[in-house]
Order: sequence, then C-alpha cells, then structure tokens
Amino acid sequence: MKGIVLAGGRATRLHPLTKITSKQLLPIYDKPMIYYPIETLIAAGIKDILVIIAPDYAGQFLNLLGSGRELGVDFSYEIQEEPRGLADAFIVGENFIGNDNVTMILGDNIFEDDFSKEIKSFKEGAMVFAKKVPDPQRFGVVEFDKEMRAVSIEEKPKNPKSDYAVVGLYVYDNRVVKHAKSLKPSARGEIEITSLNNVYLKNGGLKVGQVNGAWEDAGTFESLLRVSNFMAEKQG
Ligand code: DAU
Repeated sequence: MKGIVLAGGRATRLHPLTKITSKQLLPIYDKPMIYYPIETLIAAGIKDILVIIAPDYAGQFLNLLGSGRELGVDFSYEIQEEPRGLADAFIVGENFIGNDNVTMILGDNIFEDDFSKEIKSFKEGAMVFAKKVPDPQRFGVVEFDKEMRAVSIEEKPKNPKSDYAVVGLYVYDNRVVKHAKSLKPSARGEIEITSLNNVYLKNGGLKVGQVNGAWEDAGTFESLLRVSNFMAEKQG
C-alpha cells in the first residue's frame, strides 16, 4: 500500500495567511498542518508517500519534509501545475503508484482516529470513510447499507440523502489510475473524487468505513482555530 498526501490548491479563502505560503504549511498548534495527515498514513503502516504540491511554494515543502528519513519514511514529490480536481492526484501520481494499491489523504484533513485496521486489511475495490455531520451539503455525502456498502455518493448535494460526510481519506486498488483517466470534468471544471467513487460504486466495489473520533477539514479561519485548540487540549 502506497500513500499520497494531496497538498496543492490555492487556498485563496485563507488570504492573507496563504499569500506567502501554502495552507498545508500553516501551524496547527505546534506543527505545520501537513504533519497530521502524514502521521495518519504512517500510523496505518504506510512508508512510501507521495506529496503532491502546487508550484508556488514547492521549495518550502522540500525544506520542511526532506527525504522523510527523520520520520522513518520515503517521501516523493510531484507538482500539480493547476488544481484540476482531487481525482487528478492519481494521474499526477501514476508513476509513483506503479502496480500498487494506494491510500490518499487530503493535506488539510485532520483526524483523531487510527485507520490501520481498515487500510491493512484492504484488498480490492475502493473504500471511503464517513462521519455524521450537521451540515452534510458542504461535503461529499454517502448513503450506505447495513453491510457498510455505499448505495449512493454525491458531491455537495442540495438535498443530502444521508447525514454522513465523506472525509478526505480514500483507499483504492490499482485500477484507480485507469478510472481517474476516464473521468470528465464537472461543472466547476474539476475531475471530482466523487465521480471516481461513483465508478467504483457502479462496479459494486465501494465500501464505507466509519470515523468515530474528531475530524476537521482545516480550510477556514474558524476550523483552523478549532483544530489548533483541540490539539493543544489533547496534548496539554
Ligand atoms: O474535506 C472533505 C471534502 O473534500 C469531501 O467531502 C468532498 O467530497 C471533496 O470534494 C473535498 O471537498 P472540498 O470542497 O473540501 O475540496 P477542495 O476543492 O477544497 O480541495 C480539498 C483539498 O485538496 C484542498 O486543501 C486543496 C487540495 N487540492 C484541491 C484541488 C481541487 C489539490 O491539491 N488539488 C486540486 O486540484
């Protein structure tokens, strides 16, 4: 199992914080944000990790993370020239993925849970993770049956079919590269991770894991502050 941390994008919503650096390098309590998703992958036993970054501050990521030796892992880097969508990570990462399965985590998603059981026992198809939220229309939304198989998955629906948001952690078998290449851009001009997940759902292979602990998408001023306070309290 290989790992990808997707840490590109422009994050204009966080200006002026992100005028001179990337969102994923901003501090969350005592560490740059990207450490948290990296630690989630490492905790799941993943040691071969591709970090996908935007061109503007690529040097800062290299200075911070280097080869990965300090953390006992191997980092590779790829530049995503334009934010073409989350599923583009599997096209940018094609050479890195090779013949392996891959787990992708978003560089601004912070988890309390340990996902090693689900990731280590993964064999084929795809797996997303869901968390019950009060405002599902802001996220990908998944509906699932008693066996934890996805029944529907939609991107930011106006009328959500469930209260379960799809969080930024995804596990795929090696067909993901081929499927990502088959996607057409959405109305917002991106190749959507939700479209990719729908390809797996139509082939009967989309499983759902539950997120029990805290989860934050640290993309707003409010969530940045909330997650910093959460980590400070947890460690204090
Ligand atoms: O946080 C979970 C949500 O992430 C899911 O529920 C949604 O289904 C999924 O589409 C995504 O929604 P967002 O609206 O949060 O996606 P956003 O465009 O903000 O991108 C998420 C992160 O990925 C962001 O930190 C920037 C990075 N990114 C984004 C794009 C589109 C890239 O590195 N490259 C890209 O091309």
